[in-house]
Amino acid sequence: MDVVGMYPTWYVPNIGTAWVMGIIGVIHVVASHTAVGAAFLFAFLETKAYQENAPQLLNFIKKYGMFLLVFSYIIGSITGPGIWYAISVASPRGVGGLIHNFVWIWAAEWVFFTVEVIGVYALIYLLGKIDAKTHLKLTWSFALASWGTMLLIVGILSFMLWPGNENWYQTGSTNDAFFNLNFFAHLGIRTGSMLVIATLVGLMVASTEKELALKASVVKFLAPIGLGGGFFAVMMFLYYIRTIPDNSVEMLHAHLLPVYEYAMIAVFIAATLYLSFAWWQPKYLSTPLAIGMFLFISIFGVWPEERIRESMRKPYVVGQYVYSNQIISRDVPGKNITGEVDKIAKKGLLALHPFIPQRLRVITDNNRLEVGKLLATIACSNCHALEPGAPLRNIPDKLHRATDADMIAAFLTGALRHGAQPYMPRIDLPEAEIQAIAHYLAAVNQGQNVKRLIVEQRAAAIKMQVAN
Ligand code: HEC
Repeated sequence: MDVVGMYPTWYVPNIGTAWVMGIIGVIHVVASHTAVGAAFLFAFLETKAYQENAPQLLNFIKKYGMFLLVFSYIIGSITGPGIWYAISVASPRGVGGLIHNFVWIWAAEWVFFTVEVIGVYALIYLLGKIDAKTHLKLTWSFALASWGTMLLIVGILSFMLWPGNENWYQTGSTNDAFFNLNFFAHLGIRTGSMLVIATLVGLMVASTEKELALKASVVKFLAPIGLGGGFFAVMMFLYYIRTIPDNSVEMLHAHLLPVYEYAMIAVFIAATLYLSFAWWQPKYLSTPLAIGMFLFISIFGVWPEERIRESMRKPYVVGQYVYSNQIISRDVPGKNITGEVDKIAKKGLLALHPFIPQRLRVITDNNRLEVGKLLATIACSNCHALEPGAPLRNIPDKLHRATDADMIAAFLTGALRHGAQPYMPRIDLPEAEIQAIAHYLAAVNQGQNVKRLIVEQRAAAIKMQVAN
């Protein structure tokens, strides 16, 4: 049988799988960046405590460490597997591509992660129980292992945007995939922002400290690290946007910065003012202020960052060869992969997709609507919600609620068929499939009860079958 290796499409109404992934991802990023950043804050603080013979600083490490264990490690390790589940059903072929490149990188990351988790328990438990110098070595090992997990995952995430040159497509080598064009810039952004997030959490913990001298010395120590991290992250972001492909530049300027630019600037200014204030007047740092600023900066800073990073990859989900709708866009000789767009143009998704129900493989008047819905779900719903008014760039609104099927079909046979939009896949389908999608989208835009119509048409089709 002639097939393309597609899986069933998982679609979440209104928000799509993209936002499911985004929401889990943001929580995970906040938790994991806190953990990695805090590891370095501990190492810096403990070094200072050791050099200046100021053992009271260790009490703060203990307190912050307990907070980390209860929040970051639990939330981080719940959301980590959550991301795996979500991406496996949202983008099975994207995940497949990553596994074929990076399975040993993930194995290595798991080793570092094990060291990190054992490290954090050992570090807190052994504080004051073993000699200071040995403990300091333990803390630095914990910090480096934590950063190792970040470094390894960044290689994978930045490959998702693109390898940055032709080599990888020819060689398929993990090395070419991992050390891609934007690896260092991306690592820099995350390293800077982990220090900011860990500092914000550190200030929450410090704000509860009753002993004012200790509180002041800790805050005065942390605030400049957060400021430096923030400045470094911004510099690295400016470098990062010089390492991205043309489709991402277009997406960034036409669709993302107009929405998120002011939020990002506001977050940067708020964080700078807050950390400067805390540095200058640590005694006025109250817990509600610290919690409020943490929530504000982590939500309004991390959501745009993750949203931009994910959306900028459009139309691809991995390595500029797997489209978000799971279709392979080009040949990758290094991995024995061949592009599928032309084949689908010739034979159609209905014939080639292995999970199309048999009764929908041939379009009739009685199933056109249902086929149209299914094809729109397969071809478009990874990036677009199908319901009018829905938050994930819904198609009805993008079509200005056009009710004329011919007009919609003209868009599909024009821009989409020729891949004229840099942020959308080339979706080239046989005429009958395009008509079905257009028919369905027009029915949605006309405000028809599509669900009920589909049920009625199925009933009619069954009746006809029985009559025959
Ligand atoms: C890989 C992701 C992706 C897929 C798949 C995709 N689109 Fe899009 N589409 C986008 C993006 C990104 C935009 C830019 C608009 C935005 O963010 O507002 C867009 C814009 C549009 C627009 C607005 C006009 C334009 O050209 O900018 C229409 C209409 C549209 N898409 C229809 C569709 C239909 C119908 C399908 C399926 C047959 C589809 N799209 C599949 C990502 C996608």
